[in-house]
Amino acid sequence: MLQNQKADLDMVSRNRNMNRKKESEEGEFRSLFLGMENTIHLAACSQAPMLKTVWKSQEKYLEDIKEFGNPWELWSEKVEELRSMIARLISAHRDEVAITFSVSSAFSALLSGFGKSDERKIVTSDLEYPTTNYIVLAQAKNGWKHETVKHRNGIISKEQYASAIGKDTDLTTVVHVSSLNGFKQDLKSIGEICHDRGSSMYVDCYQSLGTTPIDVKKTGIDFMAGGTLKWLLGMSGTAFLYARKDLAEDLNPSSTGWFSQKEPFKFGAEMLDFADGSRRFESGTWAIPSIYASIEGVRTIMETGTEFIKGKIADLASYALETAADMGFRSATPPEEEKRGGIVAIDLEKPFEMEGILRKKHRIFTSARGNSLRIAPHFYNSREDIATFFDTLVHESHKQ
Ligand SMILES: Cc1ncc(COP(=O)(O)O)c(C=O)c1O
Repeated sequence: MLQNQKADLDMVSRNRNMNRKKESEEGEFRSLFLGMENTIHLAACSQAPMLKTVWKSQEKYLEDIKEFGNPWELWSEKVEELRSMIARLISAHRDEVAITFSVSSAFSALLSGFGKSDERKIVTSDLEYPTTNYIVLAQAKNGWKHETVKHRNGIISKEQYASAIGKDTDLTTVVHVSSLNGFKQDLKSIGEICHDRGSSMYVDCYQSLGTTPIDVKKTGIDFMAGGTLKWLLGMSGTAFLYARKDLAEDLNPSSTGWFSQKEPFKFGAEMLDFADGSRRFESGTWAIPSIYASIEGVRTIMETGTEFIKGKIADLASYALETAADMGFRSATPPEEEKRGGIVAIDLEKPFEMEGILRKKHRIFTSARGNSLRIAPHFYNSREDIATFFDTLVHESHKQ
């Protein structure tokens, strides 16, 4: 056999082995979830598929109530376990993490700590999830001005932030990955602009944490909120706020409750005495079943590894964009890998109708938003899932 032919055959057999390994790895990942045998789940930007361990955690929650009645101590341990896991995931100290109910409640509590202002400014953008804009607007009654940076074709440049953030800016909000089109912002550079002008940076990482490593210290993030329902594979009812310890302790939130205090059980308190660090942004009883679930979701993400997940998602999203272009679909998602997260948005005339058809007729789960149908491949998806999605989309589009 010629040398070249042998090399080619070796290569084919190596590729086959790698493909087999990939297939078995993907099969293994899928087997972690319920109902994946007959479903293509591409909706992690909306609600993650159900991990078997999450399902079990709900049974455990009910068993614990049956067994122990009112196990508050156990529940507090669970909250602390989740706090530590999230701290590890984002490279923060556990005292810098508040466990909240939603990103909205986290950001509301944070902003309520900024108190009254004499015409100082909050810079935000129209790519933020609307909850951020509404919460910023609600601060007008405390004397805060705001400026909304407007995206251009789904993208905001560093220069746009640089011209909006001035010496009068106390806070700048930055959504890491846009839930509209998957555009990913360069947090480090925006953070440098913020800090240069004396502004703090608040990051909404709901659509990025779980898809990519985030190190809050190395990136220069002052405040950050995210939730566990989506890419972190948990359940609704649990989110978190990271606040740099030194900054957190300068803030006294007016949106508050007993668990924000050093002595939550003190009746007839006549004075506020905020807990150390970020706990001061907590409020009342946590959504305990969701805490049980979120621990399992975050555990799976950490065991799988965010660096690995990042690579997998980048490959699937690139493949999705190439396939969309080949099939003649337009997408508002940036083609450059470094400018996008896990969401790929396909422009459609009737995205909500298509979401329903794909779910009901084909058990393909996607998520419509605005003028697009969004797909959100995660580590358990394969290129085959993406190909089947597009074939089905073409097939169903012809019928409309
Ligand atoms: C980027 C982003 N931020 C915030 C939210 C809202 O989060 P919550 O409902 O927990 O307030 C969402 C919800 O989809 C989101 O995608």
